[in-house]
Amino acid sequence: MPKISIVGAGMTGATTAHWLAERELAELVLVDVVEGMPQGKALDLLEAMPVIGKDVKVIGTNDYKPTEGSDLVVITAGLPRKPGMSRDDLLNTNADIVKKATEETLKHSPNAIYIILTNPLDSMCYVAMKVGGLPRERVIGQAGILDSARMRAFVAMELGISVENIDCYVLGGHGDSMVPLTRHSNVAGVPLNEMLAADKLAAIVDRTRKGGGEIVALLKQGSAFYAPSAAIAQMSEAILKDKNLVVPCAIYMQGEYGLKDIFFGVPAQLGKGGLKKVIEYKLNAEEQKMLESSAAEVRETTAALKL
Ligand code: 2OP
Repeated sequence: MPKISIVGAGMTGATTAHWLAERELAELVLVDVVEGMPQGKALDLLEAMPVIGKDVKVIGTNDYKPTEGSDLVVITAGLPRKPGMSRDDLLNTNADIVKKATEETLKHSPNAIYIILTNPLDSMCYVAMKVGGLPRERVIGQAGILDSARMRAFVAMELGISVENIDCYVLGGHGDSMVPLTRHSNVAGVPLNEMLAADKLAAIVDRTRKGGGEIVALLKQGSAFYAPSAAIAQMSEAILKDKNLVVPCAIYMQGEYGLKDIFFGVPAQLGKGGLKKVIEYKLNAEEQKMLESSAAEVRETTAALKL
C-alpha cells in the first residue's frame, strides 16, 4: 500500500486522515509537535477501521522517522487565521513551519510528492518548492478545488439542483482576488449565466471569494477544515491512482496564462508523478485582467517572503 504522511494533525490534518482512510488509499502517518495528540488521533482513527471495514494502518508521531518512504506528503501545519486576519498576515511564521516540514520529510522521503495547504497558500507552495529544491511537478497547492466546491455548493443551494450537476472553475490566487470563471461554469451543461440572474450570480461570486473568511468569522477559532481536507483526499487519489484528473490547483507558473515564477490556481491534470499538465483556457480580456490582478497580489506576498 502507498504511504501518505500528513504534517500538522490539527483539525485539517486529522480530517484529511479521516477522508483518506475512508478511501482505503494508503497507510497514513500523522505528524505534529504536540506530544500525544497525533498518537491519540491516529489510534482513535485506527480503531474506527473495523467499524467502517477498511484495512488502513494509521500511525501518530512527534518525529519524522516514521514518515520514511512516503509517496505523498501533505503539509497542513501552520497557524490558522483569526477573525479579521487575512491569509497573508500569516506569511513568515508559517513559512518557517513549512520550511522545516519540507526539509524534515524530504530527508526520509526523497521522492515524495508534496500537497500544500498551509496559508498563505500560493506563497507556502513556493517555500516548499524552493527549500526542497523540488521540480514543479512535485509541489501542488490545494486551493482551487475548495474554492470551486464552495461556488458549486452556493449554486446548488440557489437552484435546488444536485451538486453533482454543477461544475464551477475558480482560478487565481487563494485570496479574496481569486477568479471565479462564470463563463466556464455550468449546470448540467447549461452556462451559469443562463441559469442565474446577474445579481444572484454576482452575489455567489462574491461569497465564493470571501468563503474562507466566512467560515473563520463563524468558527471564531481556526479556519475551515472539512472542505479543504476533502479536496486533499481527491488530489491524493488522483495522484496515487494515476487518474489524470483535471482540477484547479496551485501550480508553479512557467509562462502559462502569461505568468512566471509564482504559484497560481490553474486547471491541472494530476496523476502519477504529480502534475502532468497545465490546461490553458482561452480567456477573454476581462477574465485575463482579473487573473493578472490576482497574480499581482500573489507576487507581492511571495516577494515578502524571507527565505
Ligand atoms: C479556506 O479558504 C483555510 O484557506 C482555507 O478556508
